[in-house]
Amino acid sequence: MLILEAENISKTYGGTYALADFSLQLAEGETVGLSGPSGCGKSTCARILAGLEKPDTGVVKFAERELRSPNSGIQMIFQDPAGSFNPVHTIYQSLSAVLSLTGVSKPDQRAVMREKLLAAGLQPEILSRYPDQISGGQAQRVAILRGMLVNPKVMILDEPTSALDVSVQAQILHLLKNIQEESRMSYVFISHDTAVVDFMSDRVVKIEKKQEYSLQK
Ligand SMILES: Nc1ncnc2c1ncn2[C@@H]1O[C@H](COP(=O)(O)OP(=O)(O)O)[C@@H](O)[C@H]1O
Ligand SMILES: [Mg+2]
Repeated sequence: MLILEAENISKTYGGTYALADFSLQLAEGETVGLSGPSGCGKSTCARILAGLEKPDTGVVKFAERELRSPNSGIQMIFQDPAGSFNPVHTIYQSLSAVLSLTGVSKPDQRAVMREKLLAAGLQPEILSRYPDQISGGQAQRVAILRGMLVNPKVMILDEPTSALDVSVQAQILHLLKNIQEESRMSYVFISHDTAVVDFMSDRVVKIEKKQEYSLQK
């Protein structure tokens, strides 16, 4: 079954196409890679697929219904992991906010967090830290774990390892693969690095730069 579909989506900024006439079909449990050079529209596509931005034309469908706003069934992971956390909240506070939304009571939250952290290769001591007190690799593990807390069907991963050292990058890629094996989630895996996209993906869609479609003449 298809879980996420984009049909002929386009987006312009200031009269120039950031993304033109893009279509994608993502099946349950599948990883589709998106690759292409810097500026070709990968992040624009990611935000639209996650429901964070509206396309100018075309539609996105999630579980066969039109996606009009963010949906907890689609989680997005960004390149800059520390930047995806509130800097004045501890990791505990950030995870607690999500667990409260999912109905886990306060007294149960710390035990849930400990279990998830250990499964993601992190020590529970990290809970008392602020985002700028942990490494990029640790922050990205926490970001992935936080996204998983709501049991999404789809993860949009926008250059999730591009800011990390090569050894840390490999660990995060394996963590993502392990999570997918257990959960049958679908991934849209975005990277400018073709080796990384090929490693992660069942199939790869290339996005070309769209300057030739500029509306300004
Ligand atoms: N919010 C925005 N406002 C104006 N221009 C944008 C915005 N987001 C992206 N762009 C432009 O759209 C094009 C595609 O950007 P982006 O989607 O970030 O590409 P990629 O992620 O492949 O590097 C670029 O020319 C970029 O400058
Ligand atoms: Mg980008």
